[in-house]
Amino acid sequence: MTGPAAGSERVVRVGLLGAGVVGSQVIRLLQEQSAELASKVGGRLELAAIAVRDPAKHPNLPAELITTDAAALVGRPDLDVIVEVMGGIEPARELLLTALQRGAGVVTANKALLAQEGPALYEAADAAGTDLYYEAAVAGAIPLIRPLRESLAGDRISRVMGIVNGTTNYILWSMTAGGDSYDLALKEATRLGYAEADPTADVEGFDAAAKAAILASICFHTRVAVSDVHREGMSSVTAADVLAAARIGCVIKLLAICERVVTDEGESVSARVHPVMLPSGHPLAGVDGAYNAVYVEAESAGRLMFSGPGAGGSPTASAILGDLVAVARNRIAGGHGPRESSYADLPIRSMGDVPTRYHVNLDVEDRAGVLAAVATEFAARGVSIATVRQEGAGDGAFLVIVSHEARDADLAETVRSVSELPGVRAVTSVMRVTGELS
Ligand code: NDP
Ligand code: HSE
Repeated sequence: MTGPAAGSERVVRVGLLGAGVVGSQVIRLLQEQSAELASKVGGRLELAAIAVRDPAKHPNLPAELITTDAAALVGRPDLDVIVEVMGGIEPARELLLTALQRGAGVVTANKALLAQEGPALYEAADAAGTDLYYEAAVAGAIPLIRPLRESLAGDRISRVMGIVNGTTNYILWSMTAGGDSYDLALKEATRLGYAEADPTADVEGFDAAAKAAILASICFHTRVAVSDVHREGMSSVTAADVLAAARIGCVIKLLAICERVVTDEGESVSARVHPVMLPSGHPLAGVDGAYNAVYVEAESAGRLMFSGPGAGGSPTASAILGDLVAVARNRIAGGHGPRESSYADLPIRSMGDVPTRYHVNLDVEDRAGVLAAVATEFAARGVSIATVRQEGAGDGAFLVIVSHEARDADLAETVRSVSELPGVRAVTSVMRVTGELS
């Protein structure tokens, strides 16, 4: 295929699945930037059909484009590209497979679907020689998937650590900086369009885990499913944790961490999502509101930071439009974007075997031998203590311990056994720590 001949306008017809927070902004941008987009693509992008559940909710959309029959929409042979912003696994999976199998290009923001069904979608795209793009699926507007898949293809990535969920970052930030309650912060994040339809996906880390699976798969050329990602949400983070973090010069962030773990036995991949105490000087610590940021460490490039709006209709639509332009260009010029790369096929490391560090806050009896008994439990599992200090005295005595790196399972077992010591009244805060503490 070649570019449009003079006088014969090339048209790329787009079918849109969903017109909610993101879809409505995709429609707006397609309308407002129609002429510019045509120049960028080398052909006109025509929005030819929109599928929704309930047309009555969309009185301002062109009635002739609206359908509730999404299955018929994706089967239409005149549609060159399907943009999926409806969310969920089914019917999105079935619809996108149908679209890919008949050779349509697909652009999707659906991280849950990609993390669970990515290989099947890629295989369908490969078989039909068409495109599957998903820049919006991780970190909203931030260009991240393309830099990882393309710009860094000549490097070896060792670690990706990111704030990839706007809702939880917004909640943690509001609670820390504004003193807001959890409920108020979540309500505001929902009002602003950041939260998923069911915010459990955000606060319990499912959304971030899906994004971690996508990032780890790309970075380590290995199929990492969402079930391979260790997940802990932020609902267990307490005011005591926030205070404990501040006392050691840290803030709490819910991070997705994807690492290449190198041991004598070889290389493996760790992918996990959990709250972390991060020193306030760390580049990710100052990422406020619903902003996302991803910190990438690569062997040759060094440390790279990607940051920006990670959620919301307009920022997400920006990433969708970027993908749409890329797919439309490919359809006009011929060729296609990058394929799935899973050649390395590294084993997945279980969370218990990953080296981590713990911050532990203990409410203790203020008497001789308590610290020695606590230290003995650490030593019994080969866990070295980096710092220990007592805060308060008498009935208000606390021990604050930060460990060196150890197997996560050994650290967890140490905390469990310490909690049973007679001199320990309660474990008031346990959290993993990342970065250099001052
Ligand atoms: P919304 O819930 O706001 O919108 C979903 C849209 O899909 C609605 O228009 C809905 O129709 C339509 N829809 C849902 N199911 C069907 C169906 N079976 N048939 C036809 N139409 C259907 O979701 P968002 O716009 O917030 O999110 C869309 C996707 O983008 C999700 O995958 C999400 O994870 C992802 N995403 C969202 C971001 C955000 O900030 N919101 C950021 C990055 C990614 P109706 O309007 O009639 O109910
Ligand atoms: N609910 C998600 C978030 C949307 O809060 O980041 C972006 O994927």
